[in-house]
Amino acid sequence: TPSGPLAGKHVLVTAGPTHEPIDPVRYIANRSSGRQGFAIAAAAARLGARVTLVAGPVTLPTPPGVTRIDVECAREMAAAVATALPADAAVMVAAVADWRVASEADQKLKKDGSGVIPPLSLTENPDILARLGASPDRPRLLVGFAAETEHVVPHAQAKLIKKGADWIVANDVSGDVMGGHLNAVHIVRADGVESLPEMPKDAVAAALVERIADALS
Ligand code: C5P
Repeated sequence: TPSGPLAGKHVLVTAGPTHEPIDPVRYIANRSSGRQGFAIAAAAARLGARVTLVAGPVTLPTPPGVTRIDVECAREMAAAVATALPADAAVMVAAVADWRVASEADQKLKKDGSGVIPPLSLTENPDILARLGASPDRPRLLVGFAAETEHVVPHAQAKLIKKGADWIVANDVSGDVMGGHLNAVHIVRADGVESLPEMPKDAVAAALVERIADALS
């Protein structure tokens, strides 16, 4: 049986992008490598947690000791998260597409040479984090992420309230965080902000999971 400060705790993590189908060969996606979420799942498992990692389409290996559920689109991710509950803590790192195509085409859309461009009508995806924040099964500690290009901390503070989360981990993605190995984050809580220096995503994960273990103990 696992030992460590998170032994006996279930930690649920979402990671990666979602792919929202347009037709059988095309999709809308968010830019996300999945690295930060996978690093958090790995770090939680190292501290002894039972970890469920709901992963969008990424090519990363499953971290040791982690139960991985692969999904493609936001609706599948929402369903997998609901099935994985209850959890002591949930860390929603996935870059979920906010919108999907209202009606997916059964056959590949053809460029027929007439110059007519198919219109894409979009509809809103479920907000998985906000749903969890309002759920009767809400994990005791609910952590969201916020990728922002400006006004990083104020946007994260607004998100904390809007989503019903306990913490929002905010990062400035105006540089080259996306796909890279380094990240600089601000952990935004109702009672204050802790800004960590730029460090490898593995170190961000270790620092965050240490704080999660403290909060759950
Ligand atoms: O609103 P925004 O997309 O910036 O919020 C980011 C946070 O919300 C992340 O934690 C992300 O995983 C989560 N989210 C979600 N479902 C969505 C959109 C965002 O869980 N449809």
